[in-house]
Amino acid sequence: MGITLAAWIIVLPSAPPDWSRDLAPLFSVQCTPCHSAGSCAPFALENGPEVRRRAQQVLALVEKRQMPPWSPEPSGEPLIGLRRWTEQEVDLLRRWVEAGAPITDDPTPREAAGPPHRAEANSAPTDRAHAWPLGIPDVVQRTHEPYTVPAEGTDLVRTFVIRLNQSEPLMLRAIDLRCSSTQVIHQALFTVDPSGTARQFDDAEPGAGYALASDMGIAVGGALGSWSCGRTTPELPPGYAWFIPAGSDLSVEVHLHPIGRPEPIEIEVALYRASGSELLPVTALAMGSITIDIPPGESAYTIRDEVVIPAAARLLAVVPTANALCREVKMEMIRSDGAAHARPLLAIKQWIPAWHQAYRFVEPIQIERGTRVALTMKYDNSSANPRNPFDPPRRIQLGHGADSEQASVVLLLLPQDPAAKSAIEAEHRAGFIRRIRERDVWYRSQPGIRPEAIAPPPSSR
Ligand code: HEC
Repeated sequence: MGITLAAWIIVLPSAPPDWSRDLAPLFSVQCTPCHSAGSCAPFALENGPEVRRRAQQVLALVEKRQMPPWSPEPSGEPLIGLRRWTEQEVDLLRRWVEAGAPITDDPTPREAAGPPHRAEANSAPTDRAHAWPLGIPDVVQRTHEPYTVPAEGTDLVRTFVIRLNQSEPLMLRAIDLRCSSTQVIHQALFTVDPSGTARQFDDAEPGAGYALASDMGIAVGGALGSWSCGRTTPELPPGYAWFIPAGSDLSVEVHLHPIGRPEPIEIEVALYRASGSELLPVTALAMGSITIDIPPGESAYTIRDEVVIPAAARLLAVVPTANALCREVKMEMIRSDGAAHARPLLAIKQWIPAWHQAYRFVEPIQIERGTRVALTMKYDNSSANPRNPFDPPRRIQLGHGADSEQASVVLLLLPQDPAAKSAIEAEHRAGFIRRIRERDVWYRSQPGIRPEAIAPPPSSR
C-alpha cells in the first residue's frame, strides 16, 4: 500500500497548481485578513492578479516564514489565530510561481473560502473595515487628544491612556480596538491602571500617550489581553471576566509602524460587558527578570525563571514581552507529581518585537496546584544580530525603548474558584517583591552606587 502510494505520487504528472482551487483558499485564511483594503498591510492580496503581480516577493517571504507574521513554533500548545504554512503548502506556492502563476478563473479568495472572516452584523457593506466585529459595544471610549505617528524611523511603542471614568467596576467579556489609520498599527496590549500613574505619564508628554511600554509592576503589561490586526478579538469563556476596578484607566500599549508620511491617529476602545452574576476575574501571574543586563558582544545571554502555580486554574494565555535583542522564548510546564517530561507551552525561535501579542490557547490548559512553569529567554547582543540597534554593540539593560531590553511573561489564568484567585494574586505580589529585592541586590553590586540612593522595596499590599 505504502509502495503503491509512493509510486503513484512519483508517476503523477505535475500539473501546475491552480490559483482558485489550490491557492485562493490559503491566501484567504493566511493573508487577506491583513492584506485587504482597510486592514494593516500596505497592499491587498485578495485575488490572483494581485498576488501574481508580487509573486516572487510573496514566495520569498513565505519561504523565509516572514509572512504571514507568526512566531510560535508548532511544538507548543495550539494557539488561537495560528498562521503557519505547512511544507506542502509552501511547495504548492513554489510550484505555482515557477509555472508562471497561472490563473484560470478568478474568484476572490473570500468567495472561494465562503463567508468573510469578520462578522459584519452592525455595518453597511461599505463600512466593513470600520465595523466592530463583535457587534455593538457596551462602552466606546477614545484617546482624548490626537497623536501623530512620524513619517520615518523604526517601529515604535507608545502607550495610550483611555480614561474610563467609571464609578462602578467593569466586568468585561471582550475588549476591542480600532485605529483611525489602519496601516500604522500592528498590535496592542491592554493593561488596567488603578493607580493613576499612566495618566501622569500621559500628561507629562505632548500629544496623546507616552513613549514607554507597560511595566512589570503590580499592574502588569498585557494583563487584559491583546488586540492584533487581521484577527477578531476572542471573547472570554463563560463565567470569567476582565476585571477593571472603579476609577481605573485602561492603558493601551500600541506597536506603531511609520508609513512614509506623518499620520495622525485616534484610538477607540470598545468594551463588552460579561453576563452572569458569579464572574471570576482573569488573574495575572508575572514571570521574568528586572535585572537584565547584557554585556556588549554576548550572543547567548539567558534569563531563566520559574513559578509554581499555587492553586488549580486553567491557563488562558501567555504574554511575552521583549525588545530587539531577544531571539528565543521558551515555556514549559512541569507537573507537581514530577512526571518525567515537561510539556512545551510556547516556543518562539525568532522573536520579532513588532508582532508580539498575547498568545491565547485554543483550549485553556488545565493546571493542577503545584505545577511549575519554566521560562527561558535568550538574547543576542552581538553584531551578528541584524536587529541590534547598536554597532558596535553596547551594554543593554532593563528599559522600555529600542535601546533597552525587557524579559517578562505574564500568565493569564482562569482560577477555579475565589480561593484560587486569591492564592494566585498573593503569588503574583510575592513574585513582584522578590524581583524588586533581586534588583536591589543587583543594584548594590554595581560599581559607584551609594546604598542610600536606593529606595526601599515597596511593601506588599
Ligand atoms: C497579521 C497581518 C498580516 C498577515 C496575516 C500577512 N501580512 Fe504581509 N504584511 C503585513 C504588514 C503590516 C506588512 C508591512 C510591512 C511590515 O509592517 O512588516 C506586510 C508586508 C508584506 C509584504 C511586503 C514586504 C516588504 O518587504 O515590503 C509581502 C510580500 C507580504 N506582506 C506578503 C504576505 C503574504 C503572502 C501573506 C500570507 C501568506 C501575508 N503577507 C500575511 C501584515 C500581514
